[in-house]
Formats: sequence, C-alpha cells, structure tokens
Amino acid sequence: MSEHLSLLIHHSDIEQTVSRIAAQISRDYEGRHLLVVGILKGAFIFMADLVRQITIPIEVDFVTVSSYGSGTSSSRRIRLLQDMTVPVRDKDVLIVEDIVDSGYTLSYVMQHATDVGALSVAVCALADKPSRRETPVDVSYLGFTVPDKFIVGYGLDFDNRFRYLPDIYALENRDE
Ligand code: IMP
Ligand code: MG
Repeated sequence: MSEHLSLLIHHSDIEQTVSRIAAQISRDYEGRHLLVVGILKGAFIFMADLVRQITIPIEVDFVTVSSYGSGTSSSRRIRLLQDMTVPVRDKDVLIVEDIVDSGYTLSYVMQHATDVGALSVAVCALADKPSRRETPVDVSYLGFTVPDKFIVGYGLDFDNRFRYLPDIYALENRDE
C-alpha cells in the first residue's frame, strides 16, 4: 500500500478561520446561555482552539459517537457512546464537528440535543464535503468547503492516524 499526504490547508489559514468563526459565535450568542458540544474524537483540536477564541461565557461538553453499518449507505446507523454530562435543558447548544460528510452524524446529534431539551441547536463544522451529503444539515458556522477527498490532520484521522498534524492534508492512494 502506498499513500502520501498532500497539503490542503495550512495551519495559518486554519488559525484565521477559527478566529473568524469564534468572533461570529461571540457576537451571535451575546447575552445567551451557550453550551458548546464537541463531537469526539475528530473535533478535539478544532474545539480547543475555537473555545479559547470565544469572548463570551460558555459551557463546554463533549459527546462520543460511532457509526456502524456500511460506511456510505443510507441505512447507516449512529450510536451514542458517551453522552453529554452538562445539563442541556433551556440552553442554546452549538455542536462542533470536524467534517460533514453524509450528514448522518450531525443529524443524529442535533436530534439528540433537541430531545434532551435544548432551547436551540446549531452546528459549527471545520470542514464540509457537500458533494457527499445524503441527509440535509444546516451548518451555521463553516470553516472550509473541501473537495471529495479523504482529509486528515488537525484532529481528523484515517484509522486513528494523523490527528496530531497541525495542517490539513488530503490522503492520496489510500486504497492501493
Ligand atoms: P457523516 O456522518 O457521514 O457526516 O460523517 C462524519 C464523520 O465521518 C466525521 O465526524 C468524521 O469522523 C468522518 N469523516 C468523514 N469524512 C472524513 C474525512 O475526509 N476525513 C476524516 N474523517 C472523515
Ligand atoms: Mg468525527
């Protein structure tokens, strides 16, 4: 198997984008009760950078989800492995995700936040692959629209590898 990484988004562009999004969030949620919920593990680096640039008081929590079944089929099921531990009722929830692909993960987590009593639910995603969408997701805060390539780095993994890289790369020839 031969694989190599080609640089897609440099860390300095990520930094600028994270600052822009954090400023928008700080403006939009001024005076409200914001709970920021990261989806593990992919969002952990984005989340850590994002919350440190938000200038209003917030609460922070995480969920862990896993998908099973065939990767891209519409029968794909999502499982909640670790729920939120901070009370959600009557709070404005902002879900932070690394990348939106089919949309099933975010649809599931948004519905879950609604089910447990969130006042509002919105989505912040570092990256979006719109060409892969199978179920609609309204992304309020988006970092980068990316092509239909498998991307790694800055929290995103392939088989738990590459998460630690500060930049974002396209993983080429991963099936050869
Ligand atoms: P969705 O449920 O199909 O939208 O999938 C979203 C999840 O799949 C993300 O949270 C990622 O963990 C994973 N994923 C989708 N595309 C990529 C990618 O290009 N690189 C790394 N992970 C990805
Ligand atoms: Mg993920």
